[in-house]
Amino acid sequence: MSEGERLTELAKRRGFYFPAAGAYGGAAGFWTYGPQGAALKSNVEDAWRDRFVLQEGHQEISAPDVMPEAVFEASGHLDGFDDMIIECGECGATHRADHIVEDNTDIEEAESLPNEDVMDIIADHDIACPSCNASLAGEPVDNFNLMFATNIGPGTSSPGYLRPETAQGIFVEFPQLSEYARNQLPFGVAQIGKAYRNEISPRKSLVRVREFTQAELEHFVDPEEDEPPLADVEDVTLPLYSGESQQAADGGVEQLTVGEAVDEGVVTSDWVAYYLGVARDWYERIGIDMDRFRFRQHLPGELAHYAADCWDAEAEIDGDWIEITGFAYRGDYDLQKHAEHSGEDYTVFKQYDEPVTVERPTVDPDMSYLGPEFGGDAQSVADALEALAERDPEAFEGEDVTVEVDGEAYTVPVEETDFSVETVTENGEHVRPHVVEPSFGVGRLIYTMLAHAYTEDEVDGEERTYLDLPPEQAPTTVGVFPLMDKDGMAEYAREIASALREAGHSVTYDDSGAIGRRYRRQDEIGTPYCVTVDYESVEEDTVTVRERDSTEQKRVSIDGLAETIARLTEGETTFDDL
Ligand code: GLY
Repeated sequence: MSEGERLTELAKRRGFYFPAAGAYGGAAGFWTYGPQGAALKSNVEDAWRDRFVLQEGHQEISAPDVMPEAVFEASGHLDGFDDMIIECGECGATHRADHIVEDNTDIEEAESLPNEDVMDIIADHDIACPSCNASLAGEPVDNFNLMFATNIGPGTSSPGYLRPETAQGIFVEFPQLSEYARNQLPFGVAQIGKAYRNEISPRKSLVRVREFTQAELEHFVDPEEDEPPLADVEDVTLPLYSGESQQAADGGVEQLTVGEAVDEGVVTSDWVAYYLGVARDWYERIGIDMDRFRFRQHLPGELAHYAADCWDAEAEIDGDWIEITGFAYRGDYDLQKHAEHSGEDYTVFKQYDEPVTVERPTVDPDMSYLGPEFGGDAQSVADALEALAERDPEAFEGEDVTVEVDGEAYTVPVEETDFSVETVTENGEHVRPHVVEPSFGVGRLIYTMLAHAYTEDEVDGEERTYLDLPPEQAPTTVGVFPLMDKDGMAEYAREIASALREAGHSVTYDDSGAIGRRYRRQDEIGTPYCVTVDYESVEEDTVTVRERDSTEQKRVSIDGLAETIARLTEGETTFDDL
């Protein structure tokens, strides 16, 4: 069994996740989180919120899942959010063309290739349809838009889309959010929520799905002035697989500290480097195996339409590298687009410490000259003169000045432009912030955490499976068991379970079956500690505490039991020290 297969089996059996709506045959790419999965998901989201929102001093919002078409026209998703699709001429099945190339050749990241090249590769390798085995050679490779379309209200006059990324709910509200931040850059806005992509071929359970949870941070910065607190993470070592290394014959992952990565120009944005450092330690905190982990830079053809640079955090499972987070430098792409399409102001007014006096070249072209001279193009010529005055005032030093409009040259006597240079005092300027975006896929994090936590060993001659999840993430912190349901043990155990719950622990009470089986059930969902009530407990007010990984047990007083469990789960004491 592959890692993925045994995980899917455990996930279903123990209530982490399973295919949704199975009673009706289900729909590929939709999963329901069961009780353990929902608890784990909530713990991961809390840990993310703690590190990327609270500790960074950012704000969190919650925007709608459905937004009007205009948002996605502006963002570029309507035109550019496509995957490559190929349809089998024989059976009509559709497939992701780049994926079937990767599955059938040595080519990695086929997504970065143009459609025609992918079509040629499919023909050259005579790749067969994964559904019916007919040849796909010669079938066209087209673009398929991944957004789910809907209608807002009755009728079709108001199209909307399920958001393909939570980010747009932040960008579109920038003018309002900027006010909440008192128009002071830098500031960050985060969101944890659902996103939807109509994937051509959902696969690998939680990895490629049609509805998923994102945890995204949009950090708005002044590109000229703001700098991240790099000193906080400069010694964190990053396993970096740069675009250059990927394209070199002998390239591989380089271990560089954040400081070295910045100094050597391997990561060009200080902000991206900062978040790679923060995230590297956070992944370790949530139990991702750092020996099966790397940061990989996107190749130029692979970049999303909005990104100037992007590094993915990737985790290894079953020999494949799975993207769990994208760290994109989005520049001012999104705010610029929303400004253009909405006509609203998507800038921040930056007040200078002291007013400054500047020389400002201006024109006030004489329309009674431009109109008869240039007809319908007169206004465009006037606009072009204004832009030229700002950009290159020296162009107005001669008798005539020439501007280009739609590829045609227009020459105007300088005296008709009323060119002058005014001296003005300015108190500040409008800055369009740049955006740094760490974007986490919560389901993929969960899939990786479970795969990396999955452990098999032998206890008392019997095979055992357990999840070595960090206590902070485990869906249940403590299992409470009466050894037997007699002589007051069950009542005593129930009281202990209630007291532990009151103290804020996540507790499972279990009195069914042999004690060994109860331990195994908790091991399989990663419960770090089990408390057992036995005869001695009732007589002496003590219980045994069992540690998941070592299976060792210690007898402790019930006085302060809740605090003991808290100190263990928070790492303030070790089981050996009990
Ligand atoms: N916001 C980045 C992404 O959804 O991929």
